Amino acid sequence: MTRLKLGVLISGRGSNLRALIESCNTSGYPAEIVLVLANRPDAAGLGFAAEVGIATQVIDHTEYAERAAFDAALDRALRAAGVELVCLAGFMRLLTAGFVASWRDALVNIHPSLLPSFRGLNTHRKTLAAGVRITGCTVHYLRPETDTGPILVQAAVPVLAEDDEASLAARVLAAEHRCYPLAVRLIAEGRVRVENERAIIDGAPAGDLTLINPLPTPSGSS
Ligand code: GRF
Repeated sequence: MTRLKLGVLISGRGSNLRALIESCNTSGYPAEIVLVLANRPDAAGLGFAAEVGIATQVIDHTEYAERAAFDAALDRALRAAGVELVCLAGFMRLLTAGFVASWRDALVNIHPSLLPSFRGLNTHRKTLAAGVRITGCTVHYLRPETDTGPILVQAAVPVLAEDDEASLAARVLAAEHRCYPLAVRLIAEGRVRVENERAIIDGAPAGDLTLINPLPTPSGSS
């Protein structure tokens, strides 16, 4: 089986990277990580990627005066490693339109909301402030505007009355760790095509659960 070659871009903790590594280590998974790239030398994800024998590289953005030069360095490293799909996993740098265009439909991102709601930073703060009862996460092909592009996989997650940013982030993160490997699998299996800026997935049954939050209580009960 030829496996789709992934390049994973991180800036920090790397828990989504870890979820992808675990999936790639599962027998029959149709992708492998050939490079982990970080823009910060202290990104925690670098350590455990190296521990399991994955090539890692730091391209420190502070050493580049211009965003385009930094992106060109990223591009060179990814192409030199033979990367076929770039996965942003908590990568905290904005990418130039040129970089995004040159990886069109070969560049995916994960965001901790149900896009197109709550794009950008401080997602969970915005989610809580809006008072929505259901949030979630989204894996999508990236387009030049931050957190936009054809949606591949989403999961819905309830917001609880007692949530703060940390508790909500943790619940959404658990869903992220399921969605990212699923999205990569669908792409690697050749089941995704983009039509009119919507991602069409062949043979993917929708989940059959309707998530209602709060749960309806029987009439008469309190
Ligand atoms: C995740 O919540 C992801 O959705 C967002 O940044 C966070 C990265 O977490 N883009 P980790 O580094 O993968 O643990």
